Amino acid sequence: MRTRIIGTGAYLPKRVMTNRDLERIVETTENWILERTGIRERRIADEDEAASDLAIPAARRALEMARLNEKDLDLIMVATITPDMFFPSTACLVQDRLGAYQAAAFDLSAACSGFLYALSVADQYIRNGVYKNVLIIGSEVMSRIVDWTDRNTCVLFGDGAGAVVLQRTKGEHGILSTHLHSDGRLWDLIQVPGGGSRIPPSPSMLAERKPYIKMKGNETFKVAVRTLEEAVYETLKTAHVQPSDLSLLIPHQANLRIIQAVAQRLGLPMEKVVLNVDRYGNTSAASIPIALDEAVRQGRVKDGDLLLFEAFGAGLTWASALVRW
Ligand code: UT7
Repeated sequence: MRTRIIGTGAYLPKRVMTNRDLERIVETTENWILERTGIRERRIADEDEAASDLAIPAARRALEMARLNEKDLDLIMVATITPDMFFPSTACLVQDRLGAYQAAAFDLSAACSGFLYALSVADQYIRNGVYKNVLIIGSEVMSRIVDWTDRNTCVLFGDGAGAVVLQRTKGEHGILSTHLHSDGRLWDLIQVPGGGSRIPPSPSMLAERKPYIKMKGNETFKVAVRTLEEAVYETLKTAHVQPSDLSLLIPHQANLRIIQAVAQRLGLPMEKVVLNVDRYGNTSAASIPIALDEAVRQGRVKDGDLLLFEAFGAGLTWASALVRW
């Protein structure tokens, strides 16, 4: 038994924020952002749009492509670090809006690796025969947890959602393997320190900007390249395939330089890499399903193609997956 991706969908908020717009908010330049990150612009959700609002259209598009009725879903997972609220889970809010009442629903928190973590969890349930149809959504409103006075981080992130519908199948097509890793010793490289039970909401924590992202960017960059390289080689070795066998690399879109470094170490030409970091920035758990959906709808993914996914994020967490389309 295998898990096959039978539908993809994405939703991006309409409002575009360019690097030039950011020049008016913090001390930065259009070129600094482009050269250091590859980002030209990102999408920003409206004030009344929360993670579930972005998730719903992405999910509907994925269900439509899968030709699956929401009533047939057994499980809904939302990978997010920007849920609508602490609880109930965003997955339960999505379940309600979809009317998929027979499904189990929960959120998964693994930051930018969240989508691949969710893919791995779903794959276990499906291959064990527990569930047949699973909806996974990566949905993030990063603009709400970005510190708009911190030029080190506010230029990097964007909002968006991507979704996939997974189904149990027999044969050669589907998820070949998933690989999850974490190193909690490096928890403080990327964090939102305030707002939880350690530093609960208070006027002083707000004044100290504790409910917003803090990141040691340069250290994170170095660990990202090393761990991603290890993860992709582990994945290729498990399946006994060479980098040249890959049809496409679909990486988490954090920074073009990180993506290029990994592709270079694999000896993979950039034509085989799916990119949208220039248009959306880092949308955390949403970035891989958005990139996959774009590649599928552009006709870049063909039957039988070998796709490698890789992601890296807070925790620290990193993950990879190999899929025969
Ligand atoms: O999604 C998963 C996790 N996140 C990541 O993967 C992010 C990983 N890290 C990165 O992508 C990069 O480290 C950044 C893009 C965040 C930063 O690039 P960098 O080449 O590592 O720059 P840096 O942090 O070493 O900073 C270089 C200089 C500093 O100035 P000094 O100290 O050399 O005078 C910064 O203050 O650039 C300065 N700087 C900026 N200048 C203009 C930092 N942010 C900005 C900015 N505009 N927005």
